[in-house]
Amino acid sequence: MIRSCVIGWPISHSRSPIIHGYWLRKYGIAGSYMRQPVAPEALANFLSELGASGFAGCNVTLPHKEAAFALVTRADESTERLGAVNTIYLRDGRTLGTNTDGEGFINSLKQSVPGLSLGGTRAMMLGAGGASLAVVNALLEQGVEELVVANRTLERTEQLRRRFGTRVKPLAWERAGDQLGDCSLLVNTTSLGMKGQPDLQLDLSRLAVDTVVADIVYTPLRTQLLSDAASRGNQVVEGLGMLLHQAVRGFSLWFGVTPEVTPELHDLVARDIDPEYCR
Ligand SMILES: NC(=O)c1ccc[n+]([C@@H]2O[C@H](COP(=O)([O-])OP(=O)(O)OC[C@H]3O[C@@H](n4cnc5c(N)ncnc54)[C@H](OP(=O)(O)O)[C@@H]3O)[C@@H](O)[C@H]2O)c1
Repeated sequence: MIRSCVIGWPISHSRSPIIHGYWLRKYGIAGSYMRQPVAPEALANFLSELGASGFAGCNVTLPHKEAAFALVTRADESTERLGAVNTIYLRDGRTLGTNTDGEGFINSLKQSVPGLSLGGTRAMMLGAGGASLAVVNALLEQGVEELVVANRTLERTEQLRRRFGTRVKPLAWERAGDQLGDCSLLVNTTSLGMKGQPDLQLDLSRLAVDTVVADIVYTPLRTQLLSDAASRGNQVVEGLGMLLHQAVRGFSLWFGVTPEVTPELHDLVARDIDPEYCR
């Protein structure tokens, strides 16, 4: 029986067990995936005992992503740039770390907008918090030429530029609406629009109709930003796709099968988020 889990503090909110449980059933794998509460002071010990506790690896969520990065034996090059891991797996007695959030975002985009090509384009990202790092990294890896980043705290956008280079163009938060023209992609990585948070107020009048608009917020499934953009005729990409796609590589590393993000899986998790959801 292969075992994996998601660690965090708290962890009761995690929807990862729904995703991995679905795949374990779909592929008939004798495995388990559970929520594992791990307090910050217990993290180092938990990771050093991961194999002895019978786990093939684990997912890592808040607040452990950076601390776990510092504790793994090795992380891949792309993950080194982020300084945060969300997936850990064991190989030859070593504890290896990786981060699948960026590919989760990109693969969700590609599944929703087949043929989307970001190479050489200008894109805009709203937000410069923890989740934005993987999105920046992934967009630059996709060849985005100019990534305009607007954030309430401008200093955090400057930090992104220092970390990821001059293709990152910091922009004052208030100016985001003015600079929307000519963007292949607009992506919200702030927590605005999330259930319990204020809505994102953004003037979309300069948004070109062929700009793809994505939100990484997934509660609600369709944020006000996405509703507004869709009603203008823009293609929109909901945040749930990123959550589903980021799970793929971990499952493959632990259980040896590369799983598919199916409409059935999407609807299963969507109904957990919104019991009234229907396709
Ligand atoms: N789809 C997925 O798989 C996925 C993965 C990870 C996260 N997420 C979602 O992404 C969102 C952000 O997560 P995070 O971990 O990056 O959070 P975070 O580190 O706390 O960052 C929050 C971001 O929102 C901005 N913000 C918050 N309140 C604001 C306000 N009133 N006005 C303007 N900007 C405001 C912050 O700006 P300042 O820098 O100025 O504070 C910062 O850029 C959450 O909703 C989370 O659930 C989704």
